Amino acid sequence: MITDLWYKNAILYCLSVESFMDSDGDGVGDFRGLMRRLDYLHGLGVTAIWLMPFQTSPGRDDGYDVSDYYSVDPRYGTLGDFVEFTQGAKQRGMRVLIDLVVNHTSNEHPWFKAARSDPKSPYRDWYVWSKAKPANADQGMVFPGVQTTTWTWDDVAEAYYFHRFYEFQPDLNTANPRVQAEILKIMGFWIQLGVSGFRMDAVPFVISEKGAKVGKKPVEHFDMLRSFREFLQWRKGDSIILAEANILPKDDMKYFGADGDRMQMMFNFQVNQNLFYALASSDTGPLRTALKQTRPDYDTAQWGLFLRNHDELDLGRLTAGQRQTVFDAFGPDKSMQLYDRGIRRRLAPMLKGDRRMLELAYSVMFTLPGTPVIRYGDEIAMGDDLALPERNCARTPMQWSDEPQAGFSTAKKTFLPVISDSGYDYAHVNVAEQRRDPNSFLNWLERIIRMRQEVPEIGWGEFRIIDIRDAAVLGLRYDWRNNAVLFLHNFHAEGSAVSFRSGPRRGEPGKLVNLLSDDHSEADGDGRHHVTLEPYGYRWYRVGGLDDAVRRTEM
Ligand code: GLC
Repeated sequence: MITDLWYKNAILYCLSVESFMDSDGDGVGDFRGLMRRLDYLHGLGVTAIWLMPFQTSPGRDDGYDVSDYYSVDPRYGTLGDFVEFTQGAKQRGMRVLIDLVVNHTSNEHPWFKAARSDPKSPYRDWYVWSKAKPANADQGMVFPGVQTTTWTWDDVAEAYYFHRFYEFQPDLNTANPRVQAEILKIMGFWIQLGVSGFRMDAVPFVISEKGAKVGKKPVEHFDMLRSFREFLQWRKGDSIILAEANILPKDDMKYFGADGDRMQMMFNFQVNQNLFYALASSDTGPLRTALKQTRPDYDTAQWGLFLRNHDELDLGRLTAGQRQTVFDAFGPDKSMQLYDRGIRRRLAPMLKGDRRMLELAYSVMFTLPGTPVIRYGDEIAMGDDLALPERNCARTPMQWSDEPQAGFSTAKKTFLPVISDSGYDYAHVNVAEQRRDPNSFLNWLERIIRMRQEVPEIGWGEFRIIDIRDAAVLGLRYDWRNNAVLFLHNFHAEGSAVSFRSGPRRGEPGKLVNLLSDDHSEADGDGRHHVTLEPYGYRWYRVGGLDDAVRRTEM
């Protein structure tokens, strides 16, 4: 069923058209602006762009409230511009994934308008209704503290409607075969316009039983995932779904599908949270456990790895104690926290702009099992604006230069203000300046991406956790087709001298070739390596002689 495994070694970059580049001076980013920046993305080493929702929307949840699935919001351009953009990406060898938000629509979607205004409307059953207030109305809110209920009374329909998210996002009745058929149609439409697949929003909620009588354990319709996957691959064999599913490890394979017939990719929320815990506590124990627990059963399943995304850093899967440790380290102030479970800041301010920690965080992300996903702006260590509500603090315009409005727009006012104070202001943090400085974070990231692409073992290979006694140091090794690579990461603010065996077998080449410098390591007579890592230091090694390494990179 799978015709191309491109996603196993991709470099994903996530951006919203709105905040990337404004070409017409109205203060809002657009497809024409984005097109002008395709060479920048290509130069960075990006191989696939994930676009956040850009379809017509009242914009009350940054586009995650769609009112027309078959259109481009006029603020961002036209369908013609979209096709020009996908073509431009293709010419540069970059694929395009787009958000597929079908758990709910906007309450301004014509389907919902028809459904609420006429009980006999064919669209009535596209949503989830209840005459009486359901007993579970005050449960299951995704945005606690902001959202107070999951059922809201509608005066026109004279009934309550179900909404897992904000009240302006009525849930689609995804069990309805007509709704399912429409979802396929939406996918088919965008596939035809040149995309390589979808980041599917809120997947556990899409497949969950919905309604007033749903008990504590709703039925989950996993067969739906198979039908999405099948449809996609019949239409275009190399297209994929990257699922947003913050689930427990025991359920991973239900989403990937036991024999690879469901989602090709999922975001690894388990590893994400434990990675931040490791950064906050210098203890990699729980991260090691998360890696073992989330090892997929078969080769074509792939994790999407991320540091920060467009939402809050969700720490809901950690223990209360672990969560507090991360809050204390990276978001101590209430204003930095969100929805009782997460931190809404961007990566750089969380890590206090510490270059060593930023490099460590990215180096780990690029070497964990999965496909890395970079959030726009994080490549220049952009900051946030906590004066903006909820998650908007980390969605401000991209900082291109020190020109007014950070070179993002010529407008007097932009859709959200550019960051102009706090040490992360655009006069100091911008692409133009970092491109000129060979030691900038941007240039470091570009080099590390280049190296990541020369190490396909991570995407393809089997990983093993190296036995290192120091809990602050994570050692990972990958084997693939007689090649092996080994990575060390020190999560401690102090240096660490570690000693380890590079592999399970004696008699392996004793040399570890450093891929980032000429500080190689030779095993002692007993086959052990001894490496002294700097505070937050890291190493990328190829196992074997230099000749092997050269041959490997020439492939
Ligand atoms: C997902 C998105 C989030 C959005 C929500 C509702 O969680 O990541 O940004 O608000 O779905 O669509």
